[in-house]
Amino acid sequence: MCGIVGYVGNRPAAPILLEALRRLEYRGYDSAGMATVSGRLVVRKDRGRIADIDRKLKLVEMPGKVGVGHTRWATHGEPSQVNAHPHVDNAGKIAVVHNGIIENYLEIKKFLQDHGFRFVSKTDTEVVPHLISFFLNKGGNLEESVRRAARRLRGSFALAVISAEEPDKIIAVRQDSPLILGLGSGEIFLASDIPAMLQHTNRVLILENGEMAVLTSDRVVIRKFGSGAEVRREPMVVKWTAEMAEKGGYPHFTLKEIFQQPEAVQDTLRAPPEELRRLAKFLTNARRVYFVACGTSYHAALVAKYALAKLAGFPVEVVISSEFGEIGSVDGKTAVLAITQSGETADTLKAVEAARAAGARVACLTNVVGSSITRMSDLVCCTHAGPEVSVVATKTFAAQVAYLLRLAVEVAAARGRSGPRCRRLASGLKSLPEIMRKNLAELDPRVRRLASRLLRAEHIYLIGRGIGYPLVLEGALKLKEITYIHSEGMPAGELKHGTLALIEEGTPVIAVVPPGGSRVKIVSNVEEVKARGAHVVAIADNGKDLEGHVDELISIPHTEELFSPLLFIIPLQLLAYHITVARGQDPDRPRSLAKSVTVE
Ligand code: F6R
Repeated sequence: MCGIVGYVGNRPAAPILLEALRRLEYRGYDSAGMATVSGRLVVRKDRGRIADIDRKLKLVEMPGKVGVGHTRWATHGEPSQVNAHPHVDNAGKIAVVHNGIIENYLEIKKFLQDHGFRFVSKTDTEVVPHLISFFLNKGGNLEESVRRAARRLRGSFALAVISAEEPDKIIAVRQDSPLILGLGSGEIFLASDIPAMLQHTNRVLILENGEMAVLTSDRVVIRKFGSGAEVRREPMVVKWTAEMAEKGGYPHFTLKEIFQQPEAVQDTLRAPPEELRRLAKFLTNARRVYFVACGTSYHAALVAKYALAKLAGFPVEVVISSEFGEIGSVDGKTAVLAITQSGETADTLKAVEAARAAGARVACLTNVVGSSITRMSDLVCCTHAGPEVSVVATKTFAAQVAYLLRLAVEVAAARGRSGPRCRRLASGLKSLPEIMRKNLAELDPRVRRLASRLLRAEHIYLIGRGIGYPLVLEGALKLKEITYIHSEGMPAGELKHGTLALIEEGTPVIAVVPPGGSRVKIVSNVEEVKARGAHVVAIADNGKDLEGHVDELISIPHTEELFSPLLFIIPLQLLAYHITVARGQDPDRPRSLAKSVTVE
């Protein structure tokens, strides 16, 4: 996730672009840059935070009344000056900023290199200015060339393009990445999100997928970039306060990020297939495989353990990073996958250090390109959830799970096990973001009502089996972190080995019942706790058969068993959030916790 902005009007563009970028910094902050047109194209960009880049390069003083800007969260190519946006064509006349992932960039890059174009960065984005320039050289104008380029791109892209040759306009394009246009008087704004422009205008036009727009100071013309047909759309008026705007209309970043999960999953599923294949090969070539991680990332690793076992018959050992030194049995034939959203967790870095010292090869899965873990790994793999602001991990968990499910499919293929289930899974993954979106909207009010009944609980027990087990661990962690209610997640089969003694009249027990083989058994575990007076809430796949057996039922539409982590985690996250708010606590600032734990 990155942020893009644009301005065309009668005022100096640079201060407006700079302020808009500051408001979008939550979408990414590893590098930033701007391009303006004033007779010629002026481009300034660097690695680092916007304020520091401005101090160094005087972004605010860039000349011109037309410009675009970008704040980056690296996906292809580490954070650096050359990889920062805007990217320009070889003649230095066209500048492009991009949010999203261009899936077929390698193929386009090869095509352009064969036609003599030189590339300087490691980004997917750089193909865009060169491709536009390729079509311009064939005789089209800027709008037509951008349109032809957009039709060649696959993946997700919100683009803003300016040119020194047509200095009075911005061309915007949208496919699967957000893009908003703001209408002022004699000026037009462009941004990835409404907050970036709210101080100037509250009249906005939202570009839809497959559309492009030509912005001049007093006019916006929208067209479908496929057919070229013009689209008429009335602007809408947004009624948001500045604070609401920063959080995208949500009261807390935690809730905003829970709702951003479909986008995080969608972007992560666009990770380059060759990266996944390399990781699958890396793991399957080893004699022993460890996944190391902490907290939420550890729970994502456990989901992967189940998925790899069920789909690929591939065993991995999942170890909490801080315990790895005690039990890791490592040699030159060992592969270690470190899973860490921040890439900075000290326990995980230490585990990796120890593994490397013993001769193991290390891969990492992180959400932060250029983080410490990436510098210690032989193979770097990335989730694309965008920066997570709230302390509790939500959307990065969803992104990790999505990535690891894709990995399970790859590993199955590498082991010659890509049967019909594997193929169903691979194609079904694409529809998951939409199913998640629907679930979020439907579950939120129901879970809020449930939260009002559980908010005074002293203890909450969560039980699950199979792939439901890591989910109850993650659900309990969310509850502990922000509600401060003692919560315990456990395999349902373990109840009778001790914890059952704590279940008495009214004790809340949440049973997570995904589809799959262990369903029958968990239903009898529910009977066990019911018999001792527990107040049982079931979160169940098509839970009709549980009606009458439980006190409350949250039914999730039927899905493939291995997809259930991405759907079943939603009510658990929402429950933690709504209990916290109902108790008058701040979910964004849980006591005693930090986002990155950089000490052992
Ligand atoms: C839970 C949470 C923590 C982190 C853990 C690992 O909401 O945020 O448990 O998951 O500190 O962090 P990363 O993934 O950055 O290594």
